[in-house]
Amino acid sequence: MQNKPYLKEFPNEEGFFGRFGGSFVDEKIKKAMQEISDSYNLIAQNSDFIAELRKIREHFQGRPTPIYFAHNLTKACGGAGIYLKREDLNHTGAHKLNHCMGEALLAKFMGKKKLIAETGAGQHGVALATAAAYFGLECEIYMGEVDILKEHPNVVRMKILGAKVIPVTHGAKTLKEAVDSAFEAYLKDMENSIYAIGSVVGPHPFPKMVRDFQAIVGIESKEQFLKMSGELPDVVVACVGGGSNAMGIFSAFVDDPVELVGVEPLGKGNGFGEHAASLSYGEEGIMHGFNSIMLKDDGGNPAPVYSVASGLDYPSVGPEHAYLHSIGRTKVATISDEEAIEAFFKLSRQEGIIPAIESSHALAYALKIAPHLKGRKILVNLSGRGDKDLDFIVEKYGYGE
Ligand SMILES: Cc1ncc(COP(=O)(O)O)c(C=O)c1O
Repeated sequence: MQNKPYLKEFPNEEGFFGRFGGSFVDEKIKKAMQEISDSYNLIAQNSDFIAELRKIREHFQGRPTPIYFAHNLTKACGGAGIYLKREDLNHTGAHKLNHCMGEALLAKFMGKKKLIAETGAGQHGVALATAAAYFGLECEIYMGEVDILKEHPNVVRMKILGAKVIPVTHGAKTLKEAVDSAFEAYLKDMENSIYAIGSVVGPHPFPKMVRDFQAIVGIESKEQFLKMSGELPDVVVACVGGGSNAMGIFSAFVDDPVELVGVEPLGKGNGFGEHAASLSYGEEGIMHGFNSIMLKDDGGNPAPVYSVASGLDYPSVGPEHAYLHSIGRTKVATISDEEAIEAFFKLSRQEGIIPAIESSHALAYALKIAPHLKGRKILVNLSGRGDKDLDFIVEKYGYGE
């Protein structure tokens, strides 16, 4: 057993969670990452920075977001109580703004002029464009052409917020390629810009920094849940793309007797290229500057991935998830496109909440286990709302009848 609380112990100074994480980049990027890490360590201790972030969260983002007891779904399942942490009510409609405001505040402190990032579902892009507008910074977002079509409302939002959206046209034209292109753009302008990574991935210090900014979700959840029910939840469930919303909520419960379940997208099935369930079917490997568990092709390169949820189709996963899973502290489950879409309509019809397709994966898993857990309590991180998905859903699935 470790002596210090988990969050103080992990990652180590080089950004390792066990053997996962680190910074596998060339010397030039390493130096830039070190600069970001040093600046972050400095401001994370600074009372002005903490006070400013607190003020932003309360007055701009609308935090704390509530926990809602999903009474109709609970009744329909006839088993465990289902509770939702309403990150869909966070300003801009998802958890992403929690780390974007922190990253932008850091950029400002470092004297940077521009924020560069990738986006899949467009939620990170919208959140970063929002943060850029708030702090008066330039913003450049790389997005795969496939996702641009699928998540059109978010493209419009980014542009209205003043961001430049750059279509990525190579490879599968989705999230992985968007990360590649954003990295390239950052390399060309490291002096003026910061690559504000959209999840708990990338080289150190991003997995730690993004987790720390997202930890507010777990801190609030624990306090709210105890207040609501007098005890901790039995199970905490979150969807996992890169893993930021999951690490945000898990981080508060790692030292507690609470089951933590990360839900990965099974897409169309478990065949090659049909899913993006990295932890479930992947193996150890380095991608985008960090060591983790990834899906590979025969040549050992990142495999093509697919999910109905644009925010989940990434061939690797945050190194902290790889570590926590490797030591048996977290469980991993998979949910198919079909199951996620069914959950999407159930929450909409039975509770009046339209979830993001990403979040619908976590909800689908909760609905699956709830009938077998009578008397227990399941807390689902409802990472975002579904407005961005409506056109796509209606075109592909109609109105769910
Ligand atoms: C609503 C929502 N949930 C979850 C995710 C997945 O990201 P992560 O695993 O980093 O939370 C995304 C990504 O775009 C998203 O938009």
